[in-house]
Amino acid sequence: MRDQIFSKEIDLVDFTFDAQVADVFDDMVRRSVPGYQTLIEMVGLLAKTYSQNNTNYYDLGASTGAVSLALGLNSPHKNNRVIAIDNSIDMVKKCKLNLNDKVTNFDVICSDINDICFENASIVVLNLTLQFVIPGQRQALINKIHQGLNSGGILVVSEKIHFNDKQKQVEITKLHLDFKRANGYSELEIATKRQSIENVLITDNKQTHFERFKTAGFSQSICHFQCLNFASFLAVK
Ligand SMILES: C[S@@+](CC[C@H](N)C(=O)[O-])C[C@H]1O[C@@H](n2cnc3c(N)ncnc32)[C@H](O)[C@@H]1O
Repeated sequence: MRDQIFSKEIDLVDFTFDAQVADVFDDMVRRSVPGYQTLIEMVGLLAKTYSQNNTNYYDLGASTGAVSLALGLNSPHKNNRVIAIDNSIDMVKKCKLNLNDKVTNFDVICSDINDICFENASIVVLNLTLQFVIPGQRQALINKIHQGLNSGGILVVSEKIHFNDKQKQVEITKLHLDFKRANGYSELEIATKRQSIENVLITDNKQTHFERFKTAGFSQSICHFQCLNFASFLAVK
């Protein structure tokens, strides 16, 4: 279904992942996040490379389940379990429907990802989700994920990022707005969504991400993908 949520004048409220957003999420994310399809394909590729037998995959902030599908369909170990977690009941319902006839071994859990106990994990993915976690809680979450990963396991974190260099920030933001325009969003839709989401989507810069991985104890972390102001990091335990 096409995303037209912000196409009319509305009373501005903070953005939430409610039923209205869940219905149009697949269209919204593809038209708003440059490189989204590649991010999902990369998860499939990483699953083939880093999967360990008899382990769990965690998809944190699963929304409609694109990452869970990429993990489940590309897993070389079919007995591994995909655990998809989201705190929006509307997203959880969509995710279950999408995984039901395609992935055999999975759980979809409605919970805050900060309350999850991670165990026997070979792959954990935070695809565009950490940016919605309260900044003061982010390090504790990454620490917990690190503890639940097996040696050689990976964490994939894809996020909208900002740049300390003001000029770079202005240029790349401009290009991101052009990307949205090119995908059919009007000036009203772009401006209203921006105001609605600015209090709930809090970006970090690349350096903050790398420092967080190091503090948590990851032995290696790289930025494996970037398109404009969206980057994906791969951290190896
Ligand atoms: C931008 S979407 C993620 C997109 C999805 N990972 C994908 O690749 O298509 C962010 C999701 O994270 C969920 N979320 C945000 N904060 C959360 C939290 N603290 N616990 C669980 N889910 C959360 C939202 O409900 C939303 O579905």
